[in-house]
Amino acid sequence: METAPFYILLFVHLSGLILGFGAVLVTDLYGLLWIRDRVRFPQVVRVSGVTERFIWAGWGLMVAAGIPLLVLKGVIDNLLIVKLFFVILIGLNGLPLHVLQKQVRGYEEGDAVPTLTLFRLTLALFVSQLAWWSAVLIGFLHRHVQTVIEWPDTPWLLIGLVVAILLALWASGEVLIRRNRAAADDVKEKITP
Ligand code: HEM
Repeated sequence: METAPFYILLFVHLSGLILGFGAVLVTDLYGLLWIRDRVRFPQVVRVSGVTERFIWAGWGLMVAAGIPLLVLKGVIDNLLIVKLFFVILIGLNGLPLHVLQKQVRGYEEGDAVPTLTLFRLTLALFVSQLAWWSAVLIGFLHRHVQTVIEWPDTPWLLIGLVVAILLALWASGEVLIRRNRAAADDVKEKITP
């Protein structure tokens, strides 16, 4: 396993990590600065428009180098199944994130961004963080702690649980925000007949 091609692929894999994960962290840093009122919202949107391309490129590079790495390793253990789930989650979550990013690009300074859009954006950013950090942690454990980790006993159960929790979070947020909006519209109608 620890041959020259393995190390070359690992180098490419880690280059993808620097590019993709680095860009994720820059985006989050700007989001954090916006929450603390240090930068303007359009600035955050502009930066994330640029970093998005680096995130996709880094993710693509990691997958492209990860597949032959796995072939050379020759073992798919339980924890790797969980890691692959998080890798796929990053890719799938990137699609709504891209749509939301395009939506908020239309807002000008001082515009009120709808609560529903903000909620979806926050959830998508949370999923992105969860999946990136989990994939990084699992990669690190495999490389530096133990090559083969047959944990958890039932990886599909864990994956199902994570999917169920995320879907429940999404559904409850959508229902709550839509209900509050409907109630606010009702009040407005009563005040201005
Ligand atoms: C977002 C995607 C991914 C992230 C963040 C990630 C992260 C990592 C990290 C941090 C390492 C340890 C590198 C080191 O310390 O030298 C690693 C190693 C590795 N990764 Fe990934 N990886 C990703 C995608 C993939 C994919 C898609 C595959 C396979 C299809 C894969 C297979 C491997 C293999 C075989 C290793 C060598 C260590 C081992 O498992 O024994 N990775 N990865």
